[in-house]
Amino acid sequence: VCIYVHVCLCLCLCLRIWQTLFSKATYRGKPIKSLNQSNFIYIDYGNLQFEEFADDEPVGVVKNAKAVGSANQRLSEAVHAIKKDGHTSVMLGGDHSLAIGSIHGHAAAVGELSVVWVDAHADINTPMTTETGNLHGQPMSFLLRELRSKTPTLPNFSWIKPCVSAKNLVYIGLRDVDPAEHFILKLLGVKAFSMTEVDQLGISRVMEQTCDYLLQKPIHLSYDVDAVDPSVTPATGTPVIGGLTYREGLYVTEYLCQTGRLSAVDMVEVNPLRGQTEQEVQSTVGTAVDLLLGCFGRQREGNHAPDYQLP
Ligand code: ARG
Ligand code: MN
Ligand code: MN
Ligand code: MN
Repeated sequence: VCIYVHVCLCLCLCLRIWQTLFSKATYRGKPIKSLNQSNFIYIDYGNLQFEEFADDEPVGVVKNAKAVGSANQRLSEAVHAIKKDGHTSVMLGGDHSLAIGSIHGHAAAVGELSVVWVDAHADINTPMTTETGNLHGQPMSFLLRELRSKTPTLPNFSWIKPCVSAKNLVYIGLRDVDPAEHFILKLLGVKAFSMTEVDQLGISRVMEQTCDYLLQKPIHLSYDVDAVDPSVTPATGTPVIGGLTYREGLYVTEYLCQTGRLSAVDMVEVNPLRGQTEQEVQSTVGTAVDLLLGCFGRQREGNHAPDYQLP
């Protein structure tokens, strides 16, 4: 069975881990159908090399500010270039703090955009509200115009211009939101479909309402694999019970694909080092690959080329 998708996608590989797994991994005894083997047309923009900082002291409780700020600046430029080349950008991570550069570069190239953030977490803490000091719990706070005055400038963060409006952001899959984050979501009136709404409405109405709400703008999908239930994607840093099923997770991508407005995708928090067994790693990576294929037109009903001729 051959899948055919004539969508151009560009890869911006941010972790060497992905490269290895994409070429060598197996899932349920079979090689994972990697993006290399599928009939996607893609350009590999290569792994980004990130600078390391010996003097990356915590700023208050916030860890690794210099490294994260600098990495995101490079990523922002890379995504900007991919969009200017006219392609759909795919960023494979890695820490969800990478969404700062990915969304920033995307917005710099296309202007106003919609962000669909699929995650167990809201990742909207500010450096002042964070309880962990981890920047992966804060990326949205640097990107939202409405939070500009609430985010102190960290070292290597001064290049960031908030470029997303709260009304253009939708969350799907939330189930582990800190009190300060919940306050921010309510204060700004951010549209959010927590797992409660997924249970209530079903994933199809969630996606319908998401797209009705967002209107006609290029869509940036930021997909944290921990949105999916840890029984399916356990190899991730902050797993939370009660997530999207494999099918719900995939439906999100299929639905966004058919809007024709998917303009950039992040697939993040895939961390093979967090898998307890080989099986856990394979299930996580295999699911992440399937979600990406869903973003670019692979349908569960099957696919065929428009010019297909019966032999
Ligand atoms: N809310 C917690 C924090 O601020 C967890 C964030 C988890 N985010 C992630 N990308 N894994 O640290
Ligand atoms: Mn992380
Ligand atoms: Mn998460
Ligand atoms: Mn996240």
